[in-house]
Parts: sequence; structure tokens; C-alpha cells
Amino acid sequence: MSTRAERTEWFLRDRLGLFIHWGLYSIPARGEWIRGNERMSREHYMEYFAEFDAARYDPRAWAKAAKAAGQKYAVLTTKHHDGFCLFDSGLTDFKATNTPAGRDLVSEYVDAFRGEGIAVGLYYSIIDWDHQDYPGYGDRAHPDRSNEEVKDKPIDFDRYLRYMHGQVKELLTNYGPIDIMWFDFSYDDMTGEKWKATELIRMIRSLQPNIIIDNRLGGNIRAAEPEEYAGDFFSPEQIIPPGGIVDVNGSPVPWEACITLNDNWGYHAGDRNYKSVKQVIRSLVECVSKNGNLLLNVGPDAKGEMTRESLEVLRGLGEWMRLNGDSIYGCGGSLLPKPEWGRYTQNGNLLYAHVYDRGIGPVYLQGLNGRIKKARLLRDGSELKVEAPWMAKEYSDTAGGAFITLTGAELPDECDTVIELELIP
Ligand code: GLC
Repeated sequence: MSTRAERTEWFLRDRLGLFIHWGLYSIPARGEWIRGNERMSREHYMEYFAEFDAARYDPRAWAKAAKAAGQKYAVLTTKHHDGFCLFDSGLTDFKATNTPAGRDLVSEYVDAFRGEGIAVGLYYSIIDWDHQDYPGYGDRAHPDRSNEEVKDKPIDFDRYLRYMHGQVKELLTNYGPIDIMWFDFSYDDMTGEKWKATELIRMIRSLQPNIIIDNRLGGNIRAAEPEEYAGDFFSPEQIIPPGGIVDVNGSPVPWEACITLNDNWGYHAGDRNYKSVKQVIRSLVECVSKNGNLLLNVGPDAKGEMTRESLEVLRGLGEWMRLNGDSIYGCGGSLLPKPEWGRYTQNGNLLYAHVYDRGIGPVYLQGLNGRIKKARLLRDGSELKVEAPWMAKEYSDTAGGAFITLTGAELPDECDTVIELELIP
């Protein structure tokens, strides 16, 4: 069996992915937890099932947008907590092929993204608010959590686990090689072997030996000896871990921060609070500077289209990645201290200075005096002078530093001006 390092090598090289949350919840358009948050009856929710037509669903357009944005892998919700399956599961009728859409939406997604050379990930919720054997009464978020009518309803949780494991087997059998299995999520006592996680993981690895899996089945991926089901990467959401993620011995643990473009994972018609291109670029650089990945989320609308705002951010990100991708792909953090003016990423002897703050005069690089073979503005390859200007020679605290001259009062790219430094080995 492959090691975690072998399985995650491509993942840590590619750094940037696209998360896609899409399903029936895109119709009420108030986020993906709508059924739980509003304690919505199944009868009410089935109204959305009856009208879900994916009329403008074009996964090739999604894939082209992701490719242009520089995203090297993608993760689509195949089933969220509401239990609705975007794939043609043989284990339920609550699926897209039985809606007016009448299609296996996952199959089309896989084909379209593979067609653009983008690695394919599948999100699958181990929580299921629709399945009759998932415990609802007293749960923290289930629509029936305070419904007295179901308080004493008999359930057979093992039957639910056979269903859940069976669907995972369908996903990893019927759609060819899958690169990422993205589970969501364990909580309270619903964790680890409650899901029969070891049995599940062994089945997954027998079907797709090279697949990578997140850490949300439970266990402790940061332990010295993680559980077999603890996963291949840590999955912080809506935060970039301040110091990155290391295990109890201080060794790096693969990690990926998943972050929404606005404030919702699923489509929310009233949420226009989108992050700027600058925020997204700088979030990506921060992740990579801490040896992590960024999974950037979009929530397509009920018809299957990404929002105009999402596409605008992805386009802006893509333009920056087109010119500066070398400072992201294959890079990780540097051992140098974080500079005042921005951040560093590094790939072997290529150090990338991400300059956010123009400051006055030359850019100061602490500790790099005599270590720079050449400096280039990454976006256009133009040469930059590495020299200590006269006004700097009077200060003793610059003995160990190097200076790079930038012309003009403004940065060439106010989002992030990247200087490629070839270091003397
Ligand atoms: C949170 C949200 C869930 C979403 C997940 C993505 O857990 O509740 O809806 O799918 O984040 O990481």
C-alpha cells in the first residue's frame, strides 16, 4: 500500500482546488443547511425535488472556469447532509436521475473535469437527514431534532451504515479513478468506529489505492500514530491555521483550508458578500507559505450556473496565476522569518518574495546578503537589481540583508507583486 507522502505528493504540488456545493438547497437559496436550520419537513423539501431540473448545468463550463483560474483539482458534493444524491445511486430513489434533471450529474462532472486535466474529488456527507435509519431526535442539527413524533421511532443504524458504505462503494466503483474522497463530518459520539470507519477506509483503499481522504471520519491525524481512518490531510474550514498543521512530533501534516467565496457553501441568493481577488490571492499565498492548500468554494444556483461574482473572482485569480503560478505550484513555506512587506513561498533554491507593501525605497530582504544569484519580476521576467543603495549603507542592522530596487511609487501588482529570487546554493 502507498504511503501518505506518496499519495499526497501531487496534492501538495498542485496547491489550489475548486470546491462546489450544489443540490436541492440551491432552490430555496438560503444555504445548504436550510432543511436542518428551518426544521423543514420532508414533504416541503420534496417540492424542490419535483422541480430540480439542472436546466443550465454545464460541467464543462465549470471545468473551463476552474482551469482558467489555475485550479488543479475539484471536489463536488455528491450528497450533502440533506441526503439528496447527485449521482445515480442504486440504493435510493432520492437522486437527481429521478428529478426533472433526469441525469447522473456526478458522471458528467467527472468526465468534464477529467477532460480539462483537473483531478477529481467527491464530497460525501456521512450525515443524512433523509435516511429513515439516521438518528434524528435529539441530534444537534437534524430537522427532526425536537420532533416529538419521532422520539421513539425505531431505527436500525447498522442498516444506515450499510447504505452509507454502499454508496461510497458506488462512487468509487462506477466513475473511474477518483483522486479525493472528501467526507463531512464527524461530531459528538458520531465519529470513528460509530461509522465503522476502519471497515470503510479499507474498502476505499481496496477500490482506489491512490485516493486521498480528508480527516473528517474522526480520529486524530496529528497523533504520533493516527488511526487508520484519520485520513491523509487535515481540513480546516473558513480559517488558515496560524502556524500551519504539524503532528505531535512537529512533523508537517498535509492540510487544505476550504474557504467560501462569499459566506455560504451552498447558493444563497441574498449573500453578495464576496471576497476580493486580492483577498483570495493572499489567502492562497498564506496557505502555501504555511505548507498548505486552498480549496476555494463556489455555490452554483438552482439552474446549475456559477454566479457572476464567483466567475469574476475566479477570472481575476486566474490572471494572477497565469503570471505567477510558479510561486504557488510545487512551492511550500520558507525557513526565513515572515518579512514585513508580505510573505515568502519557496521551491528548492527558488525563493518567491510576495510583496504586498511597497514601502519607501528598496525592498529589504533580511538574512539574504550575498545569497541571491539573480532576481526577476515573476510576472514579466524582467531583471531586478540586487544592490545596497548608498542610503542603506549607513545602517548597521542591514549587514545581513539584501536590497532589491523597485522603480516607481506603486507596486506592479497591488494584489501581490512576486519577485523570483534564485538563491546561491
Ligand atoms: C461546514 C458546513 C458544510 C460544508 C462544509 C465544507 O461543515 O456546515 O455544509 O459542506 O463546511 O467544509
